[in-house]
Amino acid sequence: MSKILVTGGTGYIGSHTVVELYNAGYTPVIVDNLSNSNIKILDQIEKIIGIKPEFHQFDLCDETKVMSFVKTNPNITGVIHFAASKAVGESVEKPLKYYRNNFFSLLNLLNAYNEKKINFVFSSSCTVYGEPDVLPVTESAPVKKATSPYGNTKQIAEEILQETAQANNNYKIIALRYFNPVGAHETALIGELPIGVPQNLLPFITQTAIGKRQQLTVFGGDYDTPDGSCIRDYIHVVDLAKAHVAAIKLLEKGNPNGNYDVFNIGTGNGYSVLEAITAFEKASGQKLNYTVGPRREGDIIKVWGDVTKSSQQLGWNAHLGIDEMMASAWAWEKYLAENPIS
Ligand code: NAD
Ligand code: WQD
Repeated sequence: MSKILVTGGTGYIGSHTVVELYNAGYTPVIVDNLSNSNIKILDQIEKIIGIKPEFHQFDLCDETKVMSFVKTNPNITGVIHFAASKAVGESVEKPLKYYRNNFFSLLNLLNAYNEKKINFVFSSSCTVYGEPDVLPVTESAPVKKATSPYGNTKQIAEEILQETAQANNNYKIIALRYFNPVGAHETALIGELPIGVPQNLLPFITQTAIGKRQQLTVFGGDYDTPDGSCIRDYIHVVDLAKAHVAAIKLLEKGNPNGNYDVFNIGTGNGYSVLEAITAFEKASGQKLNYTVGPRREGDIIKVWGDVTKSSQQLGWNAHLGIDEMMASAWAWEKYLAENPIS
């Protein structure tokens, strides 16, 4: 079966996608420099699928290494490009780190595949919509000025991909705009591994519940939403992983929409921060220590996706709801407490 290069395949979304690719009959090949992941994730993946995936450790910003990898692996038919730096706050402090890592790695890959037919799936983000004017937000909504260098890398990367696919028929490209990925594999053997204090809601919730953090602060309780807290479209990471398999399949079959396409990947449902906390308390059976504090600068108030296009044209739908997201995130946090990965 086809070999698929998964860049960033030991990371959070990449590791789940490696499992789903294997389950769908593909042979995933991982490239990762382990800058934000742990080599032990390969053993964890092996515990789930029964084999250790092929792994190459190098930095995709190294053009020579990327060229040599592509040359020595001619039977790779698809690339799923997860590898990137992703912390919004850090990107404001170190913009050059983000522009360098996210662009050099992308450009090196695209350049290396210049003369070869390749299916290419890119990790984009709902961050490209900013604060949408209309909800749920569709793929044709305007892209708003990015509020962080990280967000800007996703917007510009989408433009680079679109122009590249237009100019050269070798590239068949899909950008997936993820909403808020959360949760973990049902085995609790892989999940999100935040380094340091988590900036995202779910790991902060689970780390508070396990006692690693004292208290969760809900960023703002006075927004123009039913309960005053912000609203997001949380998507289970396993559903998200399956969306990548669907994207590869659509590219293999031939996408009637052309060489470049974008899809929203969410559930289509919005949950407030307070609703997410209530769902977590229900799934975990314990009360969460939280307080409602001031707003976080730059936060989007409400965003959730219109998933009609991904349902109809990608043939993909989310199946796991907020209860499964919370339960699996909690199971993973408890697993980590017993089996630290560091
Ligand atoms: P992650 O940090 O867990 O995984 C990224 C992986 O890429 C890591 O294993 C890291 O070591 C590797 N990597 C980074 N730079 C590299 C380089 N130059 N060479 C080789 N490997 C490199 O992140 P994730 O949450 O799995 O996100 C995957 C992708 O999805 C990213 O592009 C991210 O921007 C995008 N995305 C994430 C979210 C989210 O909330 N997690 C939302 C929208 C989009
Ligand atoms: C979710 C909600 C917070 C932490 C970020 C990136 C975005 C995308 C996804 C990659 C918000 C609230 C959070 C806390 C809280 N990533 N919150 N207390 O803000 O939707 O987006 O990750 O592309 O680009 O900006 O996700 O998990 O940080 O926050 O109240 O301690 O939880 O205010 O409403 P966000 P998040």
